[in-house]
Amino acid sequence: MTQSAPVVLIAEQLAPSVLEVLGDDVEIRHVDGTDRSALLPALADAAAVLVRSATQIDAEALAAAPGLKVVARAGIGLDNVDVAAATERGVMVVNAPTSNIVSAAEHAVALLLAAARQIPAADASLREGAWKRSQFTGVEVAGKVVGVVGLGRIGQLVAQRLAAFDTTLIAYDPYIQPGRAAQLGVRMVSLEELLREADFLTIHLPRTPETLGLIGAAELATTKRGVIVVNAARGGLVDEAALADALRSGQVGAAGVDVFAREPCTDSPLFGLPNTVVTPHLGASTTEAQDKAGTAVAHSVRLALQGEFVPDA
Ligand code: MLT
Repeated sequence: MTQSAPVVLIAEQLAPSVLEVLGDDVEIRHVDGTDRSALLPALADAAAVLVRSATQIDAEALAAAPGLKVVARAGIGLDNVDVAAATERGVMVVNAPTSNIVSAAEHAVALLLAAARQIPAADASLREGAWKRSQFTGVEVAGKVVGVVGLGRIGQLVAQRLAAFDTTLIAYDPYIQPGRAAQLGVRMVSLEELLREADFLTIHLPRTPETLGLIGAAELATTKRGVIVVNAARGGLVDEAALADALRSGQVGAAGVDVFAREPCTDSPLFGLPNTVVTPHLGASTTEAQDKAGTAVAHSVRLALQGEFVPDA
């Protein structure tokens, strides 16, 4: 009796390296993971499913996949995978925790600089035929205090990069080793101190029940007037409505936002504000990061389907 090849369901656009690594002893099928009416039936035969951040692999999706062995998330966060439900069903969950940290850090720095110099608004204005130099006076980063909320892998890379801009770095992170912060030239402070002292505030935390809504109206009211806020971590860590109010009042001078409480997001109070730079969750969207994430999870999927030990990616 010949055994049929295990079905690997690719539910989002992934790097070409994924197919190369998966090889031809699996049957690759594609589905739009955001379309539940297509995803659920497609999961029926799947031994593995590969996703980025838009496909929800929740308890319902797992129940629709009786033969599922492994869920692979081509990225860091597992926000869109119900890990507890998967574990209960004996389904392995793999991700690529370091694949896109450099890209995410670079994007946060890009948003910070773009917000400081109002680059998108100036670009749009010039394209409309206006030469308004005085309207787009920005601020320098040099000599300023940058507050990093969350000094994990990405936060550390952001701190290292911003050190080159002659900034003073402070950070809030209850879990960081003080020695590591000292090596990076970062002074650890409480969140309250950070909010009070920072000229630029950049967030690098996962989304958890503790971090959701971490920066809301009350916190923004305690910052320096004109602070520049960057969120390229997870939507919902900064309350979007509160941030929009603070941007309108001038309490926040500008903001760079890559992530939204609900994604895909096509309507946010931030979108109508000129002093805001917004991108559609592009932190991990580089050729390099996608290649690394795809390769890492495809290797893990192969091992899982062969019943072999899957080391941390
Ligand atoms: C991540 O968690 O690594 C990113 O959000 C990945 C992505 O953009 O797909």
